[in-house]
Amino acid sequence: MSQPADLVQAVQRALRAPSVHNTQPWLWRIGPGAVELHADWTRHLPATDPDRRDVLLSCGAALHHLLVSLAAADMAAHIERLPDPENLAHLATITVQPGRGSADDAALASSIERRRTDRRRMSHRPVLSHQIRSLAKQASRAGALLLPVTGPALRHHLTAALVHAAHTQAQTPGYLAELQVWTHRHAGARDGIPVANVPPHPVGLIEPSVLRNFPTGRLSQPSQLPGHGPADDAAEFLVLATPGDEPIDRLRAGEAMSAVLLAATQLGLATTPLSQALEVDMTRQELQHQVLHIPEHPHLIIRVGWRATGADQLPPTPRRDLCCVLLPPREG
Ligand SMILES: Cc1cc2nc3c(=O)[nH]c(=O)nc-3n(C[C@H](O)[C@H](O)[C@H](O)COP(=O)(O)O)c2cc1C
Repeated sequence: MSQPADLVQAVQRALRAPSVHNTQPWLWRIGPGAVELHADWTRHLPATDPDRRDVLLSCGAALHHLLVSLAAADMAAHIERLPDPENLAHLATITVQPGRGSADDAALASSIERRRTDRRRMSHRPVLSHQIRSLAKQASRAGALLLPVTGPALRHHLTAALVHAAHTQAQTPGYLAELQVWTHRHAGARDGIPVANVPPHPVGLIEPSVLRNFPTGRLSQPSQLPGHGPADDAAEFLVLATPGDEPIDRLRAGEAMSAVLLAATQLGLATTPLSQALEVDMTRQELQHQVLHIPEHPHLIIRVGWRATGADQLPPTPRRDLCCVLLPPREG
């Protein structure tokens, strides 16, 4: 059966979604008037992501990218999340409906191609509170909370949790091997994190780095402006949380992550998803109870700031071809 060209195009654009280590842990089935999204558990990272949160966040981001692409093509969609209790890999069925696409979603479409994960030092220019509020509104439209971690005491606590998580993971059997595998793909690979998107791990910082320590990086840092040092990086740290911690909450958190990242891109802001502190049970709980003091469940930290003066445009990371992530059509 031929695939409707507009759905194919929307799925193609959804493939630009961010994913942990650029594993792209998704599979799609395109049928008449409907698209199915499935998790690809073969791309799960058991040592890095023992409770599969990152897989669901990544797939949630792909789902939101799809909805934005459909809305931009002026197609309304009905979403059924986790439609099959017998098959938890089947994450969503998206059915095209009569009517117009959401204008709020459509407005984010132009950010899909421009968004990048930026791991470099950011500018000393502050992100304004109304900009953070508009990002929080995007998260709330997608059913999640976005909570800024402000003030030196809380920021110190957050840094401690991130550093603690990094130490714990470095001792976890398999963690470093997964990092090695996904940062050293064979030439021409269409997944994984290229060295061109990772700066070398910083040395000589007063505070420890809160970014994931990748084995190799060749991305140059922008030079410091006179009168400014590394401590002037004014990036904000925002935590995404949802009322529950079931698979559906994690999927929704992924949708909210996508909404926040695309909206931040639209504002001209650079972003870095940071998941280490949420991948380790103890630090996730520290974050929930000792930093944020909330009953909701945190899923991801998003670092947001202005690109430093003189920082180059980042190259796009690769994606697998659509044909490699398509499931066969259903019989009948
Ligand atoms: C759930 C999730 C967790 C991530 N965790 C991190 C992280 O801890 N550190 C990091 O530098 N990037 C992290 N990323 C960013 C991915 O590495 C990035 O999306 C991927 O390499 C594709 O690159 P792009 O975002 O520039 O398209 C994460 C992304 C997702 C979706």
